[in-house]
Amino acid sequence: MLRILVLLFFFSVSISSKKENCDEDEMPCEEGWKLFERPQGGWCMKVFYQSNIPHEAAEKQCQEHKATLSGFQDQRESLYVVSTVLDKIYPGTGTVRFGLKRRKDCFYHALDENCTALNSFEWTDGFTTGTDGILWDRDQPDNSWGWAQRCAMLIVSPGGYSLNSQAGTMDDIQCDFDFVKNKEEERQTRAFVCGKRAAF
Ligand SMILES: *[C@@H]1O[C@H](CO)[C@@H](O)[C@H](O)[C@H]1NC(C)=O
Repeated sequence: MLRILVLLFFFSVSISSKKENCDEDEMPCEEGWKLFERPQGGWCMKVFYQSNIPHEAAEKQCQEHKATLSGFQDQRESLYVVSTVLDKIYPGTGTVRFGLKRRKDCFYHALDENCTALNSFEWTDGFTTGTDGILWDRDQPDNSWGWAQRCAMLIVSPGGYSLNSQAGTMDDIQCDFDFVKNKEEERQTRAFVCGKRAAF
C-alpha cells in the first residue's frame, strides 16, 4: 500500500511539473514588451516612435495597445527608455513622453514649500508608486511659460546634454508643446513609452 502511495506521489509530481513547463510557454509580456519586476508585481513596457506627438495623443495610442503611458518605478526603468531611444535616434537628441502629470493643487505653483520636486507631479498609470523613478533636471519642475507645464518629458542625448538639459533627467513641459514650431528641434518629442501589467 505504501509503495502505491509513493508511486502515486511521484506520478502526481511529474504531472504537475509538466504543467509548470507548459505555463513557461506563456510569457509575462507580449513579444516586443520588456518585463520589469517591481515590488508590487510585473510591469511590461514598450517604446513607440512618433515625432512631435502630444501627450494625450500618445496616451490614446497606448490605450490601443491595452496599455497606458508608463511611469517609472525606479531609475533602471527610465534609463532603459533613455538608452533604447538613444540607440534608435543616435546621434540625434530628443525627448520622450511618459505617464507623469502635474497635480491639480500645483497647477498654479512653481517650486515652493507645498509643491516640491517630488510631490508636484503624480504617476498616471495606476501602478507605479513612490518617487524613485523621478529625476528632474536642475531647477525643474519650474512650471514656466505662465504656469502651463502640466506634463513631463525625458531627455535623450548622446552628449550628456541637449539645450542645456542633462540627458536622462526630466523637465516639465506643456502637454501639447510643439518643439519644432518653437525652434527647439533638439528637444523634439521622438517617442513615448507605454506600460501594462504583466500576465503573472
Ligand atoms: C502652503 O500651504 C499652507 C497651508 O494651506 C498655506 O498657508 C501657505 O500659504 C502655502 N504656501 C505657499 C507658498 O503657497
